[in-house]
Amino acid sequence: MTDAFTPADAQARDAADPLRGFRDEFHLPLHDGEPQAYFVGNSLGLQPKGARAHVEEVLDKWATQAVEGHFTGQAQWMTYHELVRDPLAQLVGAQPSEVVAMNSLTANLHLMMVSFYQPTIERTAILVEAGSFPSDRYAVESQLRYRGLPPELTLIEVEPDQPDGTFSMAAIAQAIGSNAKRLALVLWPGVQYRTGQAFDLAEIARLGHAAGAMVGFDLAHAVGNVPLRLHDSGADFAVWCHYKYMNAGPGAVAGCFVHERHARTTRPRFAGWWGNDKHVRFRMGPEFEPTPGADGWQLSNPPILALAPLRASLEQFGRATMPALRAKSERLTGYLEQLIDAGLRDVLDVVTPRDVSQRGCQLSLRVVGGRERGRELFDYLASRGVLGDWREPDVIRISPVPLYNTHADVLRFATTVREWRDAR
Ligand SMILES: Cc1ncc(COP(=O)(O)O)c(C=O)c1O
Repeated sequence: MTDAFTPADAQARDAADPLRGFRDEFHLPLHDGEPQAYFVGNSLGLQPKGARAHVEEVLDKWATQAVEGHFTGQAQWMTYHELVRDPLAQLVGAQPSEVVAMNSLTANLHLMMVSFYQPTIERTAILVEAGSFPSDRYAVESQLRYRGLPPELTLIEVEPDQPDGTFSMAAIAQAIGSNAKRLALVLWPGVQYRTGQAFDLAEIARLGHAAGAMVGFDLAHAVGNVPLRLHDSGADFAVWCHYKYMNAGPGAVAGCFVHERHARTTRPRFAGWWGNDKHVRFRMGPEFEPTPGADGWQLSNPPILALAPLRASLEQFGRATMPALRAKSERLTGYLEQLIDAGLRDVLDVVTPRDVSQRGCQLSLRVVGGRERGRELFDYLASRGVLGDWREPDVIRISPVPLYNTHADVLRFATTVREWRDAR
């Protein structure tokens, strides 16, 4: 056993962790009566214990007040989405009027493209990363077709230029620069879902704008994971979900950012009554006067039950603070990297950039020896209560989440991989 794999070391690291108390605020799924080592916050974050009270509050109000619930109390449903506005803005580095919780990620992406993808004769192209998340690709491709444009000619997919499928900023700059004249929109991830690579969003926004394009971000894997300064990044829009690192529950209401420079835009949009300015909304007239800012893109009155857990989550993020979470995240993921380097290099290749500024908490690990071996290891881990997720053909994604994962969890992962290797 190498020193790096010492339980006492993991315990000392956990004892010194200023955020260690947060783990008790979550429901930890069990395996054989013991908490799993759950590394799948990149897919579905764990349930904050505080979520139930917020959901029950809504259920109780519905039971006892029915329609009056729209108008009573601080958490009245009429303005319920406003309860999450300030903490959300704080979390993503935006002004309150630039963010709104609504719909789902893909729906928001469509709404944003309706407004911010406006092809002209010269500019028709949308630039994305090759291997982008399928839903984003379907959304982009269907937007192109909806405008009568053939995706073969108008969808630019930038190929990764680095080993293991990551991107250098030079490759992104080159792709944007060489297509500058025909670019209408750059759509880029904050953290790439497959590789875990994090990007310099301000630089990508700068490059896109210099080319004369609009710039939007998919922050599904970035929000609650890496610090964001959306307003300062200058992005035109961003979309994200709240069920991964934001722990707001399966299918939670998603997030959307629209830069303040577009707050009163006259661009086309797909409208609904909840986007109408609340001062005129209930006149029920035919005219649409969008609420200035991100709220103006809302369609429907929000699903209050689905929004409720987000309040509990944001309250935790407010207490933990993003800088402290990021500091722990760097330590925790750094520890995982250290254990792999110390004893598992013959089993796992780290796909995610080694440069800490280019990643969040996730490490994507390619299993040496290919798919069959990879599946075997993945199943072995799961059978011992160590949960990552699998990405074809041969990658296991492991995301130590600073709110609830421990160094002991990380050591358990590494020890279980070693056990599997040694038994073969
Ligand atoms: C990067 C990325 N984009 C888009 C989506 C789709 O999200 P939704 O189902 O909430 O629309 C996901 C879902 O995991 C994702 O990871």
